[in-house]
Amino acid sequence: MRIIEAKDYKDMSRKAANIISAQIILKPDCVLGLATGSTPIGLYEQLVEWYKKGDLDFSRISTVNLDEYKGLNRENDQSYYYFMHDHLFNHVNVRPECTNVPNGMEPDSEKECRRYEELIDSLGGADLQLLGLGHNGHIGFNEPAPIFEKTTHCVDLTESTIEANKRFFASADEVPRQAYTMGIGTIMKAKKILVVVSGEDKAEIVAKAFSGDVTPDVPASILQMHRDVTVVADQAALSKLRQ
Ligand code: GLP
Repeated sequence: MRIIEAKDYKDMSRKAANIISAQIILKPDCVLGLATGSTPIGLYEQLVEWYKKGDLDFSRISTVNLDEYKGLNRENDQSYYYFMHDHLFNHVNVRPECTNVPNGMEPDSEKECRRYEELIDSLGGADLQLLGLGHNGHIGFNEPAPIFEKTTHCVDLTESTIEANKRFFASADEVPRQAYTMGIGTIMKAKKILVVVSGEDKAEIVAKAFSGDVTPDVPASILQMHRDVTVVADQAALSKLRQ
C-alpha cells in the first residue's frame, strides 16, 4: 500500500486526478471504477478542467460506479446516477452508453445485483477503482458486517451512514435505507485501487483501516491485502496514522 500525503483537499484532488489521468493516457480504453461522496468532487472538477484544456480524452473509456441508493430514480438529485452526470459525465466526452451505475429503481435486488456483477465481469473488471472512505470504514456501501460480502449486493445502511449522509437530504427520514453496492470481492478484483481521504474527521478511521487489523468490522482494512493500492490523503486525514 502506497500512502501519498497531500497538503490539503485541493492538493489531494490534484494528485488523485493526476493518477486517474495517467491511467487514461496509458490505457485510453480503460475501465474506471468510480465513486461518489463529497471527497472525489474536487478531483472530478480537476479532470473536467484538463479535459476542457484538451489534455484528456474520455471517448474510449468505460465506467462502473460503486453503488447507488435503492429506490431513488435517476432524476433525483441525490441519486449517484445524478451525481456522476452532474460532476463528470455531462462535462466530458465519455460515451453515455459506456457509463454504468447500479439501477436503484430495480426492485428485484437479486436480479439487479446479478446483472451488475456480470456487467463488470464482461468489461474485464476495473483497471482502476476509485474509493472514498466512510467514517465507519465503509467502502462503496460495504458496511461493517460479520463477513466480507463478495459480490454486488443490496445492503441495509447503518445508522451512522444515514446520519453522515443526511446532510445531502432535507431530513434523515428521506435518506434511503438500502443501497446496491459492489461487494468487497468485486472491489478487490480491480487491478489498481486509488483511495482518496480528506479531513481530520477521517483520521481515526484512516489509522484503523490502514494500520489496524484486517477485519470485516472495518471493511476498508481488506485493502491492506490488495497488491496495488494507493491512498492519497491530506495531512489532517493522516494525522493519526503517523502516531
Ligand atoms: C458514501 C458513499 C461512499 C463514500 C462515503 C464517504 O456513503 N457510498 O462511496 O466513499 O460515503 O463519503 P464522503 O466522501 O462524503 O465522506
